[in-house]
Amino acid sequence: MTQQLTDTPTDQQLEDHFEGRVANDQRIEPRDWMPDGYRKTLVRQISQHAHSEIIGMQPEGNWLTRAPSLRRKAILLAKVQDEAGHGLYLYSAAETLGADREDLTTKLISSRQKYSSIFNYPTLNFADIGVIGWLVDGAAICNQVPLCRSSYGPYARAMVRVCKEESFHQRQGYELLMTMMRGTAAQQEMVQEATNRWWWPSLMMFGPPDGDSPNTQQSMAWRIKRHTNDELRQKFVDMTVPQAEALGVTLPDPELVWNSESERHDFGTPDWDEFKNVLKGNGPCNAERVERRRRAHEDGQWVRDAAAAHAVKQAARQQTEALA
Ligand SMILES: [Fe+2]
Ligand SMILES: [Fe+2]
Repeated sequence: MTQQLTDTPTDQQLEDHFEGRVANDQRIEPRDWMPDGYRKTLVRQISQHAHSEIIGMQPEGNWLTRAPSLRRKAILLAKVQDEAGHGLYLYSAAETLGADREDLTTKLISSRQKYSSIFNYPTLNFADIGVIGWLVDGAAICNQVPLCRSSYGPYARAMVRVCKEESFHQRQGYELLMTMMRGTAAQQEMVQEATNRWWWPSLMMFGPPDGDSPNTQQSMAWRIKRHTNDELRQKFVDMTVPQAEALGVTLPDPELVWNSESERHDFGTPDWDEFKNVLKGNGPCNAERVERRRRAHEDGQWVRDAAAAHAVKQAARQQTEALA
């Protein structure tokens, strides 16, 4: 049981009450008192997550007009639309913490806030669509399932819905790759080549190694995060190896081997210099992704203006009716 608060609690009492709730796995809700650092950490994490969903629409959206069949097009369209929805849930979750969505968007399109490094890599052929579903959405699931138990209520609840949709994303990618692997030698080669390109960037999605991740410990203490970056990366590798075998592709890591003592896979080290460089804005597609988002935002200005003008008219009408 957490201690009940008196009418005028001291800062210390508020802090103790908060810590008690977190320790008891009770959810923190928007109107609850929370330390500034907790709020800031959540706003940073949730907005980066929201930006990733929205920017993540671009690499796959790039193939919507070139899908090889109506079925593939319908699936891809549904998936890309889901990602837009994920972005919206997450921006709403950030707003419950006092963040302003317009401000978050401005920070994204002026490169003052980041999004996942993975979306700065290009999609070169349709096998990339399958590999993104399999590996990128697969890694997202590993990251996001524990977030369903995050201490902040609106974030955790958004994640429950997001995760259901992510599992569809992963399966559609895997099914596409299975189909290609049953096809011609050229199709099989496309799958292998796409796997080679996406494997290491997918491992980087879990963030820097634990020793190099200064925020992890505090986020774990606040139960925003439930596992460290390296724990999640290991889980992803262990989950993916049998899937690669079933598919008939080779993961491009000569150091990848089952360790019977630790009962997990040993694997090589991602190129962390490449990761840092992509985060700094120097990846193959950073400039293009941000520029496209900026243009889309500017092109949508008339819609936002029209919605705001409509809201003013509605309010005025309601006021007139109330006075009549
Ligand atoms: Fe998503
Ligand atoms: Fe997804």
